Amino acid sequence: MEIKTIREIFHSTYGREASGIVRAPGRVNLIGEHTDYNEGFVLPIAIDRYTYGVYGLRDDSIVTFASAQANGRASIDLTGQIEPGAPPWSNYCRGVVAGLANRGLVTRGADILLTTDIPIGGGLGSSAALEIATAMALLAAANKKNGIEPGELVLLCQKAEHEFAGVPVGIMDQSISLMGQRGRALLLDCRSGEGEQVPFEDPDMAVLVVDTQIKHDLASSEYALRREQCHLAAERLGVPTLRDLDEEAIAKGESDDALDRVQLMRVRHVVGEIARTLEGAQALWAGDYAKFGGLMFESHASLRDDYRVSCEELDAIVDLAGGLDGVYGARLTGGGFGGCAIILAKAKKAKAASRAIRKDFARRFGQECPVFATCAAAGASVVQ
Ligand code: GLA
Repeated sequence: MEIKTIREIFHSTYGREASGIVRAPGRVNLIGEHTDYNEGFVLPIAIDRYTYGVYGLRDDSIVTFASAQANGRASIDLTGQIEPGAPPWSNYCRGVVAGLANRGLVTRGADILLTTDIPIGGGLGSSAALEIATAMALLAAANKKNGIEPGELVLLCQKAEHEFAGVPVGIMDQSISLMGQRGRALLLDCRSGEGEQVPFEDPDMAVLVVDTQIKHDLASSEYALRREQCHLAAERLGVPTLRDLDEEAIAKGESDDALDRVQLMRVRHVVGEIARTLEGAQALWAGDYAKFGGLMFESHASLRDDYRVSCEELDAIVDLAGGLDGVYGARLTGGGFGGCAIILAKAKKAKAASRAIRKDFARRFGQECPVFATCAAAGASVVQ
């Protein structure tokens, strides 16, 4: 997105010049799905698609939000109680304002415009990018860019999503949007919050994102249900989280009848996926994409059969990709129930793979699925 255009949108929205611009990227998770809220490992990259927060200072205590993509505006008085409200998208912003105001990090008003080229609600971390862009804009407007540690800002944004948007997400999306580095994937330990930057840059390798454009209403309720099932399973097995389990403990759970069939499936996914994520990071260090791709297919099968968060369209894309020349691996990325699949392929074969997927998807489902190539981009920053 052009900075000039972004400034123009701010001007036509608020009738004055912007004071500054920040941006926060979306993400794709390479592997490690539904492990973050089990305190496991994830391996996402930030992508070169961003939510921009453009701000203008005000002399009062009012913070306003407008969006270039969604209707409605929000106006929040910093001297009053900050609560959820309309329009629905503003709740991500309201929660962040509340968190920063509680810490005394926003005291002065601002007009904020948000604009994005991340598909909204498409499983590419658009909610987290909105939260991080909001936080960065408010901090920049208050001249307090270093007023909060990155790890704390991640938790503040996660809390905003829990309490103001009602979705009990983990910390993956906010972490990568803030801490992503160009040419690196982030192996994040969701227990300690510590990350290792793993090289992920190679002119011979390509990452394709296939957007099914499908959004299932049950996505957030099913997400909350999965989280609850994991919590209960850990409780029954007498461990704090599923991160604390290994294959042996699962076998014991199976033979003791401690878990019911569904719980066992969920546990099997989480424990297997954490192991695959660690193995995947090793494969990337070794530049072994064939190995990594195999783990991606296994991850997808586990999400489809044990965790049950895939859908027909995602399965069709992954199946087809598996038979294409030059494809290392494919899987759904993000929470599931629609959204996007990712494909890791030889750069030379990426165009042909993309063409084949689009054609097959249109034939089978009678609608388009946009495909775009992406790369590991840098995390959130001040643009101007
Ligand atoms: C969503 C959540 C993340 C994570 C993924 C599944 O993207 O925001 O915290 O749980 O789903 O891996």
